[in-house]
Amino acid sequence: MQETAKLIIDGKEYLLPVIEGTEGDKAIDIRSLRQNTGYITFDPGFGNTGTCRSAITYMDGEKGILRYRGIPIEQLAEHSTFVETAFLLITGQLPTREELTRTSVHLNDFSPLHENMKAFYQNYPPKAHPMGILSAMVNAMRSYYPELTDIEEEMNKTYLRLISKIRTMAAMAYRISLGERVVYPRPDLCYCSNFLNMMFDKVVVPYKIDPDLVRALNVFWILHADHEQNCSTTAVRVVGSGKVNIYATISAGISALWGPLHGGANQAVVNMLEEIQKNGMTIEDCIAKAKDRENPFKLMGFGHRVYKTYDPRAKIMKKMCDIVLSKIKRNDPLLNIAQKLEEVALNDSFFVEKHLYPNVDFYSGIMMRALGIPTNMFTVMFAIGRLPGWIAQWKEDVTDPETKIARPRQVYTGNFQRDYIPMKQRG
Ligand code: SDX
Repeated sequence: MQETAKLIIDGKEYLLPVIEGTEGDKAIDIRSLRQNTGYITFDPGFGNTGTCRSAITYMDGEKGILRYRGIPIEQLAEHSTFVETAFLLITGQLPTREELTRTSVHLNDFSPLHENMKAFYQNYPPKAHPMGILSAMVNAMRSYYPELTDIEEEMNKTYLRLISKIRTMAAMAYRISLGERVVYPRPDLCYCSNFLNMMFDKVVVPYKIDPDLVRALNVFWILHADHEQNCSTTAVRVVGSGKVNIYATISAGISALWGPLHGGANQAVVNMLEEIQKNGMTIEDCIAKAKDRENPFKLMGFGHRVYKTYDPRAKIMKKMCDIVLSKIKRNDPLLNIAQKLEEVALNDSFFVEKHLYPNVDFYSGIMMRALGIPTNMFTVMFAIGRLPGWIAQWKEDVTDPETKIARPRQVYTGNFQRDYIPMKQRG
């Protein structure tokens, strides 16, 4: 029996179908609402609005649950690699050994950039933000690589070409910003080792691959790989709904991720912690500022639209910080400040009542610092991790028969009709 929701408007009853998901999540299907009632719904930020059915990621914000294709994030962080998790997100299944080998070969084959793309980098000012460069370079791929065809094999190669090259593009942006020689990807290194080597290898001091740091980077990217319908994924789906090519669509996702309220928060967290350390701000001052509604200051890395408890990724990230810092035998004072901030905030009624807990960005910056990643590259690291999720969500969107071009409505609050006033009458 189809479950329905009853709406009464001006004494008239309307029955709207209810859609139920795998985990019992429910939605009222309002696709016929305007045509039947003349009304639309109003939900800035879409906090109460489902834009699609999706089988990729499941989150329960109240219980702090996150699963990719049904597998808990804790198990993937413990046992998987970033490349294997990317395969799982995009195809829906964990790869066989043969599929994983074939995927790794493609990732290696696709890792160099077209030599002519280097000219783009050389014409950016040295202080150009790498997120702007990355968004532009991914968009430029459309001009160098074949357009997406409907042939499954070709589409899979396009996904792997993007996943492989985004890593090379990021490292190249960093090296060129330093005026250092570009380090090319090596066929003998795995995905994460290759990235670290391209970032830090020096002629005089060859980069030493440390398996523990490579593991930490795998976990970092696994934790960022997808997160259902977040801001940047919504941007990817909206842009993709107009049948834009995948490169321009992913470029839009990178731009949406850049903001400090979204993926840019990891950079904002470290800037905030450095501010506290430099200005000798007390933890109490910081918490008081975050609680003051007149003050625009927010405790960056805290709060989440969906999680109303501890972000499960933040728990894992915090553990990885300890592992990496003890491995490199460094004590980061910012970690101590972050831990004190968390302790005070989680015992403060303001944060408890508003369900404000650390999110994935709160500790991720500290771990990236420990890996040697510069602060302005933090959101680039998030983008590399999120790319398989964007691809999986884009693929699901463009192959979903229910998908239509994104075109929301509005409540108009402007002028009533009025006539044009010729300039000579305007004074
Ligand atoms: C990511 O959506 C995703 O899944 C995103 C992400 C992913 O993997 O894709 O998880 C990645 O973007 C994580 C979030 C990173 N952003 C930050 O850490 C920035 C700081 N956080 C806030 O800006 C905020 O919490 C958001 C943007 C994350 C969520 O904002 P919401 O859901 O719109 O909540 P809100 O702004 O309406 O806040 C509710 C209340 C407000 O107070 P009142 O108006 O009710 O009095 O809580 C307050 C807010 O002022 N509040 C904060 C706060 N976050 C919310 N107060 C102080 N510090 C904060 N961090």
